[in-house]
Amino acid sequence: MQFQTIIEPFRIKSVEPIGLSTEEERVRFLKEAHYNPFLLRSKDVIIDFMTDSGTSAMSAHQWAGVMEGDEAYAGSRSWERMQQAVQELTGMEHILPTHQGRAGERIVYGHLGGPGKVFISNTHFDTTRANIEFTGATAIDIPIKENEDTALLHPFKGNMDTAALERLLKEHKGNVGAVILTVTNNSGGGQPVSMANAKEISSICRHHGVLLMLDCCRIAENSYFVKHREQGMENLSYREIAQRMFALTDGAVMSAKKDAFANIGGFIAFKDAALAEACTNLLIITEGFSTYGGLAGRDMEAIAIGLQEVFDPHYLQYRIKSTAFLGDRLTELGVPLMLPIGGHAVYIDAKKLYPHIPPAQYPGQALVCELYRIGGIRSVEIGSVMFGTYAEDGSLKPARMELVRLAIPRRVYTQSHIEYVAEAFGEVMRRKDKARGLKIMKEPKFLRHFTAHFETL
Ligand code: F0G
Repeated sequence: MQFQTIIEPFRIKSVEPIGLSTEEERVRFLKEAHYNPFLLRSKDVIIDFMTDSGTSAMSAHQWAGVMEGDEAYAGSRSWERMQQAVQELTGMEHILPTHQGRAGERIVYGHLGGPGKVFISNTHFDTTRANIEFTGATAIDIPIKENEDTALLHPFKGNMDTAALERLLKEHKGNVGAVILTVTNNSGGGQPVSMANAKEISSICRHHGVLLMLDCCRIAENSYFVKHREQGMENLSYREIAQRMFALTDGAVMSAKKDAFANIGGFIAFKDAALAEACTNLLIITEGFSTYGGLAGRDMEAIAIGLQEVFDPHYLQYRIKSTAFLGDRLTELGVPLMLPIGGHAVYIDAKKLYPHIPPAQYPGQALVCELYRIGGIRSVEIGSVMFGTYAEDGSLKPARMELVRLAIPRRVYTQSHIEYVAEAFGEVMRRKDKARGLKIMKEPKFLRHFTAHFETL
């Protein structure tokens, strides 16, 4: 018999209590946090969908690996295991450990960037963009145009617009730092990138002699979609699909806090020895020696094991289907979503949910606040708070989309947690005409969403 119920393919061995609170208490907590979920205390959150990054439950095997961690400063056994796991997966020879994804970004894009340089991506993640812009370079996003229509169904809505890529490479000839393919396309709705798109980008980059980097932090989730949605890919394993995608690129940066089930960690991988050497010099100055790069031996063990576990077909099926399950429940309630549902998160189109709140009053942030007040659910705005900029006259130049992300930590929540979230959304929908926008009272220059203070209008 073929069962319809997809179960969590694990049992729970160790539990962590969730602190429950009342709506009245949460109204106060939210005010104290200046209406910014990054300023809430985790103990005041019931369901934490802020991020899938570093929040995974590690397996018994990973915890056993933690005890095996070799904490030697140089030449640690744990580094050898991590290095080998990354080499086998990426097919790249030169591997540099980093303490997380953005540390790798700072090193690689710090080396390749600088004033006048241009970086092109299907969509830069916020830290990627910030690290590029911090060097004085420019980051340009060119997702396919289908990406912007949240309701439109497209199997690979994370793809890059290759005609725009050709045009930009000609326009910025000699000044392109790198092309960066982000899989899955996190800021573009967690949407996957097809192998065909990666192949085309790769051949365009080779033709123009431009470096192609893979931001591969959700490479296993992306491989799931490729296998199930792309013709000719169905007979490959998830791991083989990932390996083929790496083979099309010149290098990769990974935040191991996602698809390696690690609580911290990352790496840079290169085919080219000279690039690796230049980056290793920077690594040693700021991250640590080249055999630990800011990580403890135990972290490197967890990463080496996690990179194997994540390609387990039962896990990946549960992962993608359980994300879709939340999406389906919200669709039934009439919540406007980014469709189809992506891998690690469900994205709500706040512009459609709250048509009465203009982008300059941050409809996404309004929903983030509602979700917390109603259900103690923590989420993140991916819209004009995160990506908005100011015109010369001081008015807001809004982001392309006003999304709210419910990112699902790996192997952490069960189906009843998800049912609870759906129930809270029922109430969000009932109160939707009463929701109000916000204004920013205080903000830093870079990555303002982390620390900005808001007030309700
Ligand atoms: N690239 C992508 C696509 C990411 O999603 C992230 C992090 C990074 C790079 C940076 O990695 O956090 O280890 O420094 N994304 C997290 C998120 C923070 O919530 O989506 P990091």
